[in-house]
Amino acid sequence: MRSGALLLAAALAVTSAAHSKLLVAQGIEEESMDAIPAENNATSSSTRIWKNKSEAQAALRAHLLENYDRGSMPPFVPTPENNGSEYAPTTIEVGINFHRILEVDVVRSEVDLLTWMRFIWNDTRLSWDPEEYAGIDKLWFWVESGAGMSETSEIWTPDIELWNQMESIQTSYANTFAAVDPSGGIFWSRPGHLKPVCKFVGLERFPFDNLECVIELGSWGHSGKFLRLEPFDGTGFSIGGSDTSGESFSEFTLDTISAELIIYPPYPSDPLADWPVIMYSISFHRSWQPYIRGYLISQIIFNIIGFACFWLPIQSGERLGLSITAMLSAVAADLVVVSKLPSASELTWMQKFSMLSQAFAGYCVLEGVIVSYFYFQVSNNLVPNYLQCIFARMPKLGRSPSGEPLGASSDSRLDILTNPLGNSGESRDGSNPSNGESYGRRPSFRGPRDADDFRTRQEQKNNAGWQRVASHIDSFSQLVVVPLYLAIVCVFLVQVTEHHESPA
Ligand SMILES: *[C@@H]1O[C@H](CO)[C@@H](O)[C@H](O)[C@H]1NC(C)=O
Ligand SMILES: *[C@@H]1O[C@H](CO)[C@@H](O)[C@H](O)[C@H]1NC(C)=O
Ligand SMILES: *[C@@H]1O[C@H](CO)[C@@H](O)[C@H](O)[C@H]1NC(C)=O
Ligand SMILES: *[C@@H]1O[C@H](CO)[C@@H](O)[C@H](O)[C@H]1NC(C)=O
Repeated sequence: MRSGALLLAAALAVTSAAHSKLLVAQGIEEESMDAIPAENNATSSSTRIWKNKSEAQAALRAHLLENYDRGSMPPFVPTPENNGSEYAPTTIEVGINFHRILEVDVVRSEVDLLTWMRFIWNDTRLSWDPEEYAGIDKLWFWVESGAGMSETSEIWTPDIELWNQMESIQTSYANTFAAVDPSGGIFWSRPGHLKPVCKFVGLERFPFDNLECVIELGSWGHSGKFLRLEPFDGTGFSIGGSDTSGESFSEFTLDTISAELIIYPPYPSDPLADWPVIMYSISFHRSWQPYIRGYLISQIIFNIIGFACFWLPIQSGERLGLSITAMLSAVAADLVVVSKLPSASELTWMQKFSMLSQAFAGYCVLEGVIVSYFYFQVSNNLVPNYLQCIFARMPKLGRSPSGEPLGASSDSRLDILTNPLGNSGESRDGSNPSNGESYGRRPSFRGPRDADDFRTRQEQKNNAGWQRVASHIDSFSQLVVVPLYLAIVCVFLVQVTEHHESPA
């Protein structure tokens, strides 16, 4: 019971405190509202006395929108510059505040930018005298779905569109109020996504590129006869604007922006109607460090692992395995990079580099194969057996009428036919060079053998020669190919530093 009473008392205290706070707040509000129509002269009959500001606002809005058609353009006010002509186009100032980059998709050529889009124009239908309306110097009118005739839009808005659009700015920007001055100046700013389709420039230096994308803004339905565009503030853009703007931990950052007014010539059907657009050139700076850390260094390491094969003994049998692993790793690193690029015919820096490293990795595999081939070679020349058959036959066909070498050659042919496995008919002591040496290398016929399993002394002698060839190839690879690779890598890196310093 007691605790209940205490609770009740506490609740009462809290509500009364809140009430008094509310009263104080209201008092302040009332005070500020009292100050509105300080003294109204009875003499000025048109000036009404407003009880409070919201009443004045409501009346003003009702008055301004009374005969307002949101489908018609702002009326033209004659000025001395155009000789009081009753017609001139409405000028729209366009300004974009670039807030941050959300996405740069190089593969699909798309960009997603978080921006604040601002349109500024004059509509004299929406002007008033602040004196008459309790000193109100700002009004807000609701605009929905971007331009024009939406049911809930209250005023006319220009139908400026993104010409190279991925998504229309009518849908990618938030609905907001347009703020209006007593003179009829309208400031309409909306936060939202600018999603253009880009024709990227500068990708060939990937990953050291500064990509450039052009954004084209202009009225879609109104030609330059009716609407003219101008960059707001002379520049047409601004960067930042709040504490949450800018990028961190992202691949792309804004580099430079420029805006330019371009006027397309009129179509022949209407020679007076040219088409003004504002072109924003935006360049993005890519962080190249992840590519160096992730792919470039690993590719160089895989290549060096591949080169290590040149020093491995052939008998160990790991040589081919190692070089193939190194090659596959280089290919895998390349695949990751390729997925970040469009499949275009142009070669980027990174693609050139991975082609280089794959070529060298491929060389390691091929070199391993060739060296093992020579290392186990026992015949005295490298002409394949079938060619030897053909060549052995041709002079014989020419000479057979004389009958001289017929017996010997038929013997040897018989030998091949009767002893295709070559395990008995061949000379075991190497005394018959024409036969035993020509057909000496048939390792595949004899099953597995080691480098020092020889059937004849001649084979052993031949093999010693071939092993020298193999070691020459290895020395060539060690002394020429490895330094060549290092030199080419240096050339690539020098190119990078040049590219990297040139824009700075
Ligand atoms: C109101 O009356 C005072 C004098 O009575 C005069 O000085 C002032 O200009 C008047 N204001 C307006 C808006 O007519
Ligand atoms: C403002 O004036 C209107 C009309 O006189 C009235 O209905 C409304 O309650 C007033 N608002 C405030 C906050 O005093
Ligand atoms: C204004 O009038 C002058 C002379 O009457 C003429 O030369 C000029 O072209 C006119 N300008 C426009 C914008 O009509
Ligand atoms: C709006 O009107 C004001 C005053 O006449 C002028 O200074 C300003 O340049 C106009 N703005 C536009 C966008 O036409």
